[in-house]
Amino acid sequence: MNKIGIGVIGCGTVGSGLIRNLPKANALIGERLGVQLEIKSIAVRNSAKNRDPLPITPVEDWKKVISDPAVQIVVELVGGTQDAFLIAEATLKAKKPLVTANKALLAERGQELFPLAQKSATPIYFEASVAGGIPVLKGLREGLVANQLLGLHGIINGTSNYILSRMAEAGSDFATALQQAKDLGYAEADDKLDVDGIDAAHKAAILCLLAYGFLPKFSEIPVEGIRKIESQDVGFARQLGYVIKLLAMIRPVGSDQIEVRVAPTLLPARHPMASVHGAFNAVGLIGNLSGPVQFTGRGAGPDATSSALLADLAEAAKNVSDRSPGPLLQNAARKARLISPSDSVGRFYVRIEVEDRPGVLAQVAGIFGAEKIGISSVLQPEGHGAGSVPLIFLLESALLSSLHRAVASIAKLPNTRAPATILRVEDLT
Ligand SMILES: NC(=O)c1ccc[n+]([C@@H]2O[C@H](COP(=O)([O-])OP(=O)(O)OC[C@H]3O[C@@H](n4cnc5c(N)ncnc54)[C@H](OP(=O)(O)O)[C@@H]3O)[C@@H](O)[C@H]2O)c1
Repeated sequence: MNKIGIGVIGCGTVGSGLIRNLPKANALIGERLGVQLEIKSIAVRNSAKNRDPLPITPVEDWKKVISDPAVQIVVELVGGTQDAFLIAEATLKAKKPLVTANKALLAERGQELFPLAQKSATPIYFEASVAGGIPVLKGLREGLVANQLLGLHGIINGTSNYILSRMAEAGSDFATALQQAKDLGYAEADDKLDVDGIDAAHKAAILCLLAYGFLPKFSEIPVEGIRKIESQDVGFARQLGYVIKLLAMIRPVGSDQIEVRVAPTLLPARHPMASVHGAFNAVGLIGNLSGPVQFTGRGAGPDATSSALLADLAEAAKNVSDRSPGPLLQNAARKARLISPSDSVGRFYVRIEVEDRPGVLAQVAGIFGAEKIGISSVLQPEGHGAGSVPLIFLLESALLSSLHRAVASIAKLPNTRAPATILRVEDLT
């Protein structure tokens, strides 16, 4: 049995889960692949901190882990894009394979790290960076390698999905559902990364890299979070036969453009993705040969993330043992560009607050018509206060820039009360 030495940098939620799960997994990896993982070095920020016992005494200087000759593979689990970048850079320069769960690092600094990995002929393994325990990256890289991918979509932030599920199931408003997510430990005190869609966009960028060989510039990805979702939108969506999910969409447009976006989106209530609830994640895709495929499972947490990290470690150890170079993402430098958000075409849900007067609906419908935007359904509920009523439109496919022009004209009508709420609609057939 070939024993491969690993170094672990960072022993917080994920790192301590990995260390706890390694002994049992090692027995299976040994049986199945004929290699064994041995922790040779561990680094943390503060070695005096109270924590579960570690198998070896940790150091505070991560450079010692990378330079330790017994360490053949380095696992980076510190998070963020600063120290983590320095650790990743030093690991690749030392020609030691890197295993990471850090989506922010890869999405925001992958443009620097992937070329370095190519130059050093040293792979980066990152299954744990997207959708926790779901082997979606290996699925794309291996099981679906012969497919042309017609598009991917995913619910890839468990915290937002939990909040939207509470709003749909318990009728909670956004603030109450967010507080519940915090009480249960699903949401961090700083909820921005999850609730404002940034974490999902990090993962969408990585899925785009795997699916299309193109890592978009992170700052150019259009991202909308779920703060603007009101319980009335959840209710109106239901009346129209939809549920609201924070959805990442990745799809090719023409020969050299790709659309990547994260936004709260109405999905048909009958679609399998609509029944992905709570902190679960799901990634769906359409392969030209496979047809529709959907992966579902736990998107975070120490055990689910360990599953992905250990799969990467097993693969990396086998490759080190076999002296194989491992996956080097040969196509990572593909020339493509993101479509401009205003060129995005799709269906939309629009809610407008108007004064309850005769003729307003006809005026609004006339403005959509002037922009050549078809209306597929309208809701005009009664019983709202102070003479204002919501008007809800489900629109046919439209150019986003045309929709914005129409909504700006509607806002100028004397009977319009509040800015429109605009949500994406994806029928995901
Ligand atoms: N939490 C999840 O469910 C989950 C799921 C998938 C992916 N991830 C990703 O996994 C990574 C780790 O997340 P986490 O939740 O485990 O974070 P965490 O609980 O904050 O743990 C971070 C660990 O890194 C150590 N650390 C920080 N800076 C360091 C430095 N300069 N040198 C050495 N050690 C350092 C900390 O040391 P101390 O212990 O001494 O403070 C701590 O052990 C992140 O990239 C995250 O996005 C997390």
